[in-house]
Amino acid sequence: MMNKNKTKVVLLLSNKGGTGKSTLLTNTAYLLATLFGKKVGVIDLDFHSPDLPSMFGVESRKLGIQNKRLMPVKVLPNLYMVSYGFYLTDKKLPIIMRGIEERLVADQFINSVDWSEFDVLLIDVPANLSDGALTVVDQIKPIDGAVITTSSQDISLTDTERSIQFALQYSIPILGMVENMSYLNCPQCSAKLELYKRENFEGLADFYKLDILGRIPFEREILISVDVGVPFVEKCKENAQVESFKQITEKIHQKIFK
Ligand SMILES: Nc1ncnc2c1ncn2[C@@H]1O[C@H](COP(=O)(O)OP(=O)(O)OP(=O)(O)O)[C@@H](O)[C@H]1O
Ligand SMILES: [Mg+2]
Repeated sequence: MMNKNKTKVVLLLSNKGGTGKSTLLTNTAYLLATLFGKKVGVIDLDFHSPDLPSMFGVESRKLGIQNKRLMPVKVLPNLYMVSYGFYLTDKKLPIIMRGIEERLVADQFINSVDWSEFDVLLIDVPANLSDGALTVVDQIKPIDGAVITTSSQDISLTDTERSIQFALQYSIPILGMVENMSYLNCPQCSAKLELYKRENFEGLADFYKLDILGRIPFEREILISVDVGVPFVEKCKENAQVESFKQITEKIHQKIFK
């Protein structure tokens, strides 16, 4: 798909699993749609654990076909998504997929859906940069930016540096880094407990001259919202931590629609 029109394309990257890419994606997608009024498309490239349909609360839905085009699943009137999760008939069965199958599905996601009317496409790229993910990165030109999500644990940062190097090698502009599960607000005394040494995260951002888009604390309501299938920023509008997601989304918005 040569992206000749105005659709902005953003990759959510992190070479380490479980650092919060999908959580950031669902919340950013919701805010871009509801707060910024954008028409948002989401592509889930995590073929082996497609979490986004559950996170958006649409796991029982199916992709449609219209005029030989694949129709993404509607989450909101201006938020649509595709995921391999919608192809599965029995969720407890293992997903055994060769590279060639991944490539075929990835190709469908980008070429069989008409994304041209969308303002922005958010793409969840799995940590292992599988064949399917590389197919998309190879085909979509240009990609407007990558957001790199990480915790500040050393092993996570080592993997994160690989994500940075990947984006550099593919000439994808890096919009910035998000430090997730960064601290904890003690529910008893409201003290801020730092969970990691932050210097290493800041050092990495500094070394590569990358913007820190924001930090998100470890927050129980974020865990719960995933189980409920409503993104945290929608489910817990009054929670003070919604502000962290708003700030990050605002920066992403500013950078891609500048
Ligand atoms: N700030 C947070 N506070 C509490 N829980 C969080 C936070 N961020 C993410 N989580 C939880 O951590 C788990 C991993 O997050 P998520 O699925 O978003 O990561 P991921 O990078 O997409 O993982 P994967 O590599 O498996 O796709 C989820 O259960 C999520 O609910
Ligand atoms: Mg994920």
